Amino acid sequence: MSDLIKQAAVDLAGSDNVVVLTGAGISVESGIPPFRGKGGVWERVDPMEYATIDAFMRDPGRVWDVLVREMKNCIDRSRPNDAHYGLATLEKMGIVKTVITQNVDGLHQAAGSTDVIEFHGNFAWLRCMECGQREETRKIAMAEIPPRCSCGGILRPEVIFFGEQIPTAALMRSEQIASRCDIMLVVGTSAVVQPAAYMPVVAKNSGARVIEINPERTPLTASTSDYLVQGKAGKVMRKLVEEIERLR
Ligand code: APR
Repeated sequence: MSDLIKQAAVDLAGSDNVVVLTGAGISVESGIPPFRGKGGVWERVDPMEYATIDAFMRDPGRVWDVLVREMKNCIDRSRPNDAHYGLATLEKMGIVKTVITQNVDGLHQAAGSTDVIEFHGNFAWLRCMECGQREETRKIAMAEIPPRCSCGGILRPEVIFFGEQIPTAALMRSEQIASRCDIMLVVGTSAVVQPAAYMPVVAKNSGARVIEINPERTPLTASTSDYLVQGKAGKVMRKLVEEIERLR
């Protein structure tokens, strides 16, 4: 086991106020591709053309066809992995307080985490752009693109497109808990999309330690993180939880 996993286990085991920030990388081992990097969605799909609210409003059918349909297929088939389960275990052990996630796949809740702040919304629900009626995404047949509400209006996912505001409550609470935690654990995010990427900086500036888990370095690694545990989230979290259980 790497020395940094041991170090992270000691640090985490000694805290009862850890806040976690997660990104697409934590769900890669669940079969959901990341956005950036090798095999990332933005390699094939230009986000400025398909992931902005303007693009969706201009041509919802095109955005459903190219981006949202693929997301639905991946998320419908996905199950939590050891990283999601590990964070839920750390919550039960009284170490992790809250998970702030940029992901819309609902896998933290599926794994048992009970306090999850969804920064970019959740893909589990669609909302009619005409009447506001909500429908469960997994129950929608994809025979018609874009899918429509019984009133005839177009259904949109309850996720935040580029150009939309982060829900105020999510943003305010995230900043508050980031400024009060002992440790911020940052798992599987490239840390390039704001304001989510700013949360570890808030934590650091308020005196917290920042620990990253990622196979790659990120902009936080040199500037903000105390250290990077290099590796895949599922594998690292499995070892980390084993080590914390041994220490306690
Ligand atoms: N375990 C941990 N991390 C991984 C793994 C893995 N198995 N595989 C890849 N990663 C890392 C990559 O090295 C990268 O740093 O996960 C990160 C994924 O980065 P992004 O795809 O940019 O995902 P994220 O940071 O969540 O993106 C933020 O951008 O397009 C938007 O709205 C979208 O919420 C998303 C936001």
